[in-house]
Amino acid sequence: MDETDLKAKRVGVLMGGLSREREISLRSGAGCLQALKALGYDAAGIDVGREAAAQLESERIEVAFLALHGRFGEDGVMQGLLELMGIPYTGSRVLASALCMNKVRTKQIAAWHGIPTPHFAVFDCSVDPGAAAAEAAGRLGFPVMVKPCDEGSSLGVAKVDDPASLEEAVAVTCRDYNAALVEEFVAGDEITVGLLESAGGLDALPVLQLKPKADFYDFNAKYHEGMTEFILPARLPDGITSRAQQLAKQVHRAMGCRGFSRVDFMIGPGGAPQLTEINTIPGMTDTSDLPAAAAAAGIGYEELVRRMLLTALLP
Ligand SMILES: Nc1ncnc2c1ncn2[C@@H]1O[C@H](COP(=O)(O)OP(=O)(O)O)[C@@H](O)[C@H]1O
Ligand SMILES: [Mg+2]
Repeated sequence: MDETDLKAKRVGVLMGGLSREREISLRSGAGCLQALKALGYDAAGIDVGREAAAQLESERIEVAFLALHGRFGEDGVMQGLLELMGIPYTGSRVLASALCMNKVRTKQIAAWHGIPTPHFAVFDCSVDPGAAAAEAAGRLGFPVMVKPCDEGSSLGVAKVDDPASLEEAVAVTCRDYNAALVEEFVAGDEITVGLLESAGGLDALPVLQLKPKADFYDFNAKYHEGMTEFILPARLPDGITSRAQQLAKQVHRAMGCRGFSRVDFMIGPGGAPQLTEINTIPGMTDTSDLPAAAAAAGIGYEELVRRMLLTALLP
């Protein structure tokens, strides 16, 4: 199959879904659907639920464009269903999707490859939050970030400055998730690197620097216009941005990703980018990072969506 064959296929934009990032995914999906229609594709939006297989069948979907974020969509579950149904789909396959959804697995694999990532401690929620907090505090000091291992959009992410708040944050994380990741706070600049892959190879987009008005790039800073300053390309020494692009490609390959991804780093002391996570289905809303980075490379939103769709043809 090539691009011409794709034009004759019915494309399903899978969006919404069952995760806590549902609302964001509906926004990502609406943008992608509109772009695909403008490009001349026979495309339909599908808000996928538990009956996803039946929905794909009744809509006669032949190729899936995944605009799902989080659980059941970005984590390998939907990818597994599509593999089973024999429907080609955009982006990473099952294993890479599952690994990248989990920040601890990502950090472990990155560390194994010599890619710098902030020090961390992880607790399954069978341990007492007080004991977990004490251990993390002893190992990492303050401040720290407390996060779920497998969520996105900064949901459940907190910055914590003292032992009592750490215990509280671990307890809160354990109420909603089954593990808590406590990570050393990196006080430097935040950047993200978009990657696009074609049959010709893997390319890094210009590095985007994020300056949230809040303490960190939280949910509000991500999805409300004006809450974050985008510096594009990043105002950082060339050596740092090219290093970040090189590291981002290394992370994408180490995790076994396909097609596209967006890799987040905090710039540590001395200018070393430290990996915080990789997103296999980056946001595609009008305030999202990937479309902005693509635009800075002269790739408009529709062209970006076209290139993302073509990743369904990659091996
Ligand atoms: N180790 C860290 N040091 C400083 N800030 C961090 C750290 N980890 C995360 N953050 C901040 O929290 C935000 C969300 O964390 P992230 O790990 O990217 O989770 P999510 O998957 O929800 O995007 C980041 O964009 C950044 O602003
Ligand atoms: Mg992130």
